[in-house]
Amino acid sequence: MNQAEQKTTVSEAVRKHKEFLFPAVATYYQEPVALVKGEGEYVWDDAGNKYLDCFGGVLTVSVGHANPKINAAIIEQTNKIQHTSGLYANENQSNLAEKLAGITPGDLKKSFFTSSGTEADDTAIFAAKLATGRHEIVILRHSYSGRSATALSAVGHSTWKPLPSQVAGMVHAHAPYCYRCPFKATPDNCGLACANDIEELIQTTTMGEIAAFMAEPILGVGGFIVPPEGYFERAYEIARNYGGLCISDEVQTGWGRTGDKWFGIEQWNVVPDIMTSAKGMANGVPIGWTIATSEVADKFPGLTFATFGGNPVSTAAALAVIKLIEEEDLRTNARVVGGYLREKLEELKEKYEVIGDVRGMGLMQGIELVRNRETKEPAPEAVLKVFEETRRQGVLIGKGGLYGNVIRTGMMLNSTKDNVDEMIAALDKGFATV
Ligand SMILES: Cc1ncc(COP(=O)(O)O)c(C=O)c1O
Repeated sequence: MNQAEQKTTVSEAVRKHKEFLFPAVATYYQEPVALVKGEGEYVWDDAGNKYLDCFGGVLTVSVGHANPKINAAIIEQTNKIQHTSGLYANENQSNLAEKLAGITPGDLKKSFFTSSGTEADDTAIFAAKLATGRHEIVILRHSYSGRSATALSAVGHSTWKPLPSQVAGMVHAHAPYCYRCPFKATPDNCGLACANDIEELIQTTTMGEIAAFMAEPILGVGGFIVPPEGYFERAYEIARNYGGLCISDEVQTGWGRTGDKWFGIEQWNVVPDIMTSAKGMANGVPIGWTIATSEVADKFPGLTFATFGGNPVSTAAALAVIKLIEEEDLRTNARVVGGYLREKLEELKEKYEVIGDVRGMGLMQGIELVRNRETKEPAPEAVLKVFEETRRQGVLIGKGGLYGNVIRTGMMLNSTKDNVDEMIAALDKGFATV
């Protein structure tokens, strides 16, 4: 859709959003978009404009808006029984837990369900502390884990920390951010300095033994930072040498997003002791999930309870999402269509100086914008320009990165090459405005 065709309206939803919500609930775009309808890869705003949704509400609508198969499962379960709480068994929760034990790597077996990624990460951290009897956690700078006291303390971004760390014992290791290497090295000559540094971090900033090392296989909010080969093998080795369990945060990288594998960490030749996810797991129905080895899960003492955890409707949605990913081979699709997308993004990089780096895996591809390719000075203002133009072109994209200078694309797992072409055409026009 071009500029001339776009309709505008004074949106009541936007007006009330601005008046009655915390200003911290920040929206994209100079004039916020109010979405009213979604179908497959597309969404519509309240003025009737149609957009290709290339961010899926932050990698959460994983298999298309209003997907008929997912909706059927949700509606069928809603009509049977909508809520039970964990005080009663329900077949969807049990079946989902069994399925997850089957598709997760290694000995991961026992699940705990919640309603968000924040709770999933909290549960993982609690479980690691309880299983090891230790309290210190190594996490990564540029990471994001949510907004509870624990998750907030783990977050590696000042921009997402309205309060200082509330929970002691979180130490932040350098991110494996090759484009902006904290050691000013390059992947071919660094000797995995960022991973090796975890050892000194533990020796100098903790009691010398840790409960866990928690990391996203690709740093999502951080701007799709992809670690170098061998990073996770070395990081997990060090963490385990110092008594730590390894937690993989798959909130963004799970469910085939990175291509071929179910989970991002499977791309890195290591097996975690605990894994978390949320977002794309139920295509937008709120869910959070933590899975651990029996050894870890069995050490969680006494009682623990999450009212909405394992809700029959959200677990029905998750079961339907997993079934659809299997039936339609969407993990392969993420690799193939993601590979095509990557080629097109590399072509844009050739064309536009403002693109400093293109990175990602599968259908998780980011574009880091810089004012100057030599100095790599971040260009968040360029991202805003690209945002406004792509919106005019009828395409929604995402952003991230510590400096707000990374465009993030999280197209749906069942996206086609035509969808990619549509997004690329809009990005091309967007970059032309910079
Ligand atoms: C990697 C990661 N972990 C945890 C979270 C927190 O999830 P939620 O917003 O569902 O609490 C997010 C959210 O963006 C995330 O990206």
